[in-house]
Amino acid sequence: MIQIAPSMLAADFLHLEKDIETVNRYADIFHLDVMDGAFVPNISFGFPVIEAIASKAEKPMDVHLMIIEPEKYVDRFAALGAEMISFHLNAAKDPEALLKHIRSLGVKAGLVINPDIPVEDLFPYLKDADYVLLMSVFAGFGGQKFIEATYDRIRSLKAEIIRQGLDIKIEVDGGVSASNAAALAEAGAEIFVAGSAVFKSDDPAAVIAAMRG
Ligand code: DX5
Ligand code: ZN
Repeated sequence: MIQIAPSMLAADFLHLEKDIETVNRYADIFHLDVMDGAFVPNISFGFPVIEAIASKAEKPMDVHLMIIEPEKYVDRFAALGAEMISFHLNAAKDPEALLKHIRSLGVKAGLVINPDIPVEDLFPYLKDADYVLLMSVFAGFGGQKFIEATYDRIRSLKAEIIRQGLDIKIEVDGGVSASNAAALAEAGAEIFVAGSAVFKSDDPAAVIAAMRG
């Protein structure tokens, strides 16, 4: 099943409620990009903004942590009601322990890698994850160009998930739009994050519908 996860990083922060309503009505998941200016060279938003979104969200919240020391903060995002929390593989001291900890909070646990990290690096940790977030741009900014090598990475990861007999979803993030969603689905991705494509459009509902294929 395809799920569309609009990235609130591209939302209109002066009219956030309007964009929250778009996700509630037409999409499946709120994708929330948390950046700390240390793991990535950008700072986005944190607890107060997510708490405000949570108060209006009728769809699950997916927190994508682009921060150093993610282990310090996952409990607070879980307490705000996140149903999915992902962290970058190379940001965690002990990825296996952190995945297990996130799951122990009743939250789905996700691993993220940037485009320059081999998908094979994920393989030992897959058994403890509920989903993998494959970056199709380098984490840090919305509005970047989709990296074509992502298709092969999705296929390799999907083959390994099947080989290990696991039930893990592949989420893809960065430069995703109605023009590449079908090919990404074909490669094996099931959750599509889209910021600019949805919120910079005049008709977000139509873009979301088109991405479902
Ligand atoms: C980038 C973020 C993405 C970003 C996607 O670091 O993880 O979620 O907001 O934005 P678009 O869809 O504009 O590439
Ligand atoms: Zn993201």
